[in-house]
This record gives sequence, C-alpha cells and structure tokens, in this order.
Amino acid sequence: MLLQVSHLDVTYHGKAEPTVHDVSFELERGQILAIVGESGSGKTTVIRAVLNCLPRGAGISGGKMSFEGKDLLSLSPGEWRSLRGSEISMIFQDSGNMMNPVHTIGKQYIEYIQTHSDVNRQEAYDLAIEKLTLMNLPNPENIMSSYTFELSGGMRQRVGIAMAITFQPKLLLADEPTSALDVTTQAQIVGELMFITRGSGASMIIVTHNIGVASYLSDRLLVMRQGKTVECGKTKDVIEHPQADYTKTLLASVPEIGGKRYA
Ligand SMILES: Nc1ncnc2c1ncn2[C@@H]1O[C@H](COP(=O)(O)OP(=O)(O)OP(=O)(O)O)[C@@H](O)[C@H]1O
Ligand SMILES: [Mg+2]
Repeated sequence: MLLQVSHLDVTYHGKAEPTVHDVSFELERGQILAIVGESGSGKTTVIRAVLNCLPRGAGISGGKMSFEGKDLLSLSPGEWRSLRGSEISMIFQDSGNMMNPVHTIGKQYIEYIQTHSDVNRQEAYDLAIEKLTLMNLPNPENIMSSYTFELSGGMRQRVGIAMAITFQPKLLLADEPTSALDVTTQAQIVGELMFITRGSGASMIIVTHNIGVASYLSDRLLVMRQGKTVECGKTKDVIEHPQADYTKTLLASVPEIGGKRYA
C-alpha cells in the first residue's frame, strides 16, 4: 500500500468542529484516485493534509496517514523536505501563478532541480529539457528562456506538470489541474497526465469538479460533501451503481454524448 489515510480530521484555526471529518481512503502503487464533490466539500483540504501544507493555524486533529508504511504524522521538517517534491509532488490549478513572473522559466526550473538534488547547472538544464519534451512542449529550449506570461495557460500547466514529475515521484497530487483551461486543452492535459502516471507507475490523487474526468481516468473515486465521505470505492462501481443520492445528482449533471459519458 502506497498511501493510507484513516479517519482523517482537519480543523481550521478557531473552529470548534473539524472541517474535514473521518475521511478514509487507500491508494495502491500505480492507482489513480479522484476526489469529487461540490465547492467547499473539503477536497483541497484533504490533499493539502497529505502533503502537510495546510494553511497556517490549520491542522490534522485526528486520524492517521502513512506513506509506504511510514507514519506521515510523525515526520520531522527535514524528512518532509526530502519527501516533498521528490517522492510526493503537487500540481496546482494554475502553475503560472506559482511561478515568479520576473524570472525565466529556465532559471526557476533549474533552481528547483538544484534544491532537490545534487546536480550541476548543465545536468539540471538537460533534465528540465527532458521533462518538458515528455510533456509535449515543442521547442523546450525556447520555453526555458521564456517568462510565464509569454506562454498560454495550457503550456504553463504543462510546465507545472513537467516540474512536478521531474524526480519521478511515487505520488502526484493534482488540485483541479485543468479547470483553468479551455475544454480542448483540458482533454489533452488529462490524457497526458494519464499517460505520464500510467507510464511511470506513479500514483495520483486528482481533485476535480468534473465527474466525467474522474470516471475517465481514475481507478478509485472518493465523493465528498461538507467535509465527509459520501461514497468511496472502485470508480466503475461508484459510477454504475451509485449508492448515495448525492452521487446520483452529481452523475446526472454530466452531459452524455452518444450515450457515453463525456470526460
Ligand atoms: N484557510 C482557511 N481557513 C478557514 N477555513 C477554511 C480555509 N480554507 C478552507 N476553509 C474551509 O474549509 C472548507 C473546505 O474547503 P476546501 O477548500 O477544502 O474545499 P474544496 O472542496 O477544495 O472546494 P473548491 O471546489 O471550491 O476548491 C470550506 O468550508 C472552507 O470555507
Ligand atoms: Mg479546492
């Protein structure tokens, strides 16, 4: 088992009750878990808890989490630093926002690589080019000398994904990785994410509003509402035989094209 989350509670500063309550799921190596649910249901909170990057004042107030059998709740800050970015990494909703607009992508990418590994500039550059190429970015050398505002949203997101997969992490966390993009680019990037994870044997937790995307790429599905689990199981089972009314409502909101659910 790669990741095991049991009875997770997360409490935000000043709140008497946990915002996320009693959430449990497991992820095997190579599996993709999708988390779906309405806005405010706690999806981001759950993945931030897994990466130990909750906002200041928020904390895990109950439950257990383990990664490859290691208790995540007892890691030291140093152990977190070596895990984050290399074993577990995060893809954000808009990677462009996470980057500095006044420096080139290359400068930031090389710095990122050098803070996580002991390689020289040239080796870091070559590794960056390799990952950008893997993400279907044409002219990766050009990308390296560009600024974020010079790229389209889809290209920026591909750069963000390239950075996240640089060290072949065992677990990728993706929070609405395509929701800032147009529909065509969304579909391409979802396809690429699937290719990358399946091809490298990595596992992924993907948060999405789009149950169509979730059903297309995930093995397991966690449906959340108001900080709690509505339903969790094999994606096929949940989609074909939803138990909860809430899941049925979510499914009913997905447009069907030619009798097939559209991702
Ligand atoms: N920094 C914070 N301080 C206090 N409460 C917060 C904070 N961040 C989130 N919350 C609350 O926690 C709950 C869950 O928020 P979260 O962002 O995890 O939901 P979400 O499912 O990711 O929503 P969305 O689909 O809109 O991204 C919400 O009620 C939200 O108001
Ligand atoms: Mg969110």
